Amino acid sequence: MYSEQKLGIGLLFNPALPQFLETRPESFDYLEVIPDREWADRGVHGSPRFLLLEQSLEFLERSRERKPMLCHSIGLSIGSAAIFDSGHVEQIRWLHQKLDFAWHSDHLSFSRLPQDLAAAGNGPEMHAAISLPVPYDQQVLQLIAERVRYIRAVIDCQFLLENNVYYAAIPEEEMSEAEFLNRLCQVSGCGILLDLHNLYVNSRNHGISMEAFLRDIDLRHIVEIHVAGGDELLGFYTDSHAGPVAEPVWELLDETLRAAPWIRAVTFEFHESSYPLLKTEGIAAQLARARRIWERHC
Ligand SMILES: [Fe+2]
Repeated sequence: MYSEQKLGIGLLFNPALPQFLETRPESFDYLEVIPDREWADRGVHGSPRFLLLEQSLEFLERSRERKPMLCHSIGLSIGSAAIFDSGHVEQIRWLHQKLDFAWHSDHLSFSRLPQDLAAAGNGPEMHAAISLPVPYDQQVLQLIAERVRYIRAVIDCQFLLENNVYYAAIPEEEMSEAEFLNRLCQVSGCGILLDLHNLYVNSRNHGISMEAFLRDIDLRHIVEIHVAGGDELLGFYTDSHAGPVAEPVWELLDETLRAAPWIRAVTFEFHESSYPLLKTEGIAAQLARARRIWERHC
């Protein structure tokens, strides 16, 4: 049985943050890290395959001594039909043994494809450099559920999947994303990382109803929330994590925490390129606003 402890308000780590972490430790309760940004992956045939960046582990261990840590991976590509990377899962397990994550997460999407289907998993790969949506149907549900069960058996902490942001919709799906996530949680034991900005982006670009999503998703499975901002690009509203949290996302956070006060953590994500826009006081203000909403409900 995993700990059910609440963590509070946290930050997704990026390279612009070390000074903030040193000077404003009171403003956040935990740090979330993207492990794939801390190592060079030399491919499934690399030996050793993963090379940690210089001083990365030392920095993470020092941070972990001060605050709880979450692991938010971007490299597994759990929805790739022809690729399942058990080496990546092993690497997360290794890091978990060092850093004792409260839980770890990845995305309900895929980004990796084999160049040659016949050599799937063993040959060269293509990387889409963006998270692509999986079709919400029974076959994909079974495939991902099996992988989630594998991950849960290998890594001894809770595993969450994040609702996806997408820029092209798949037609004629068998179920909605909320229904897919509900069933996946039931059959595989994974939890949900609800990214409210992803939901907002999808509503802006595709007209999906945020109210319907939040009504249909089983809130009991939500463990963590992501909040972020974005901007316009070529007629799309993007999930660029540019600067402050988008205003409608604050409203969604308030509604969601009111309806599900058992949620254990709220993480602010921003990209390091928008640090000059936010600076120390801007980051602290975003965290303080999240905390005010959290304290109203949790
Ligand atoms: Fe996110």
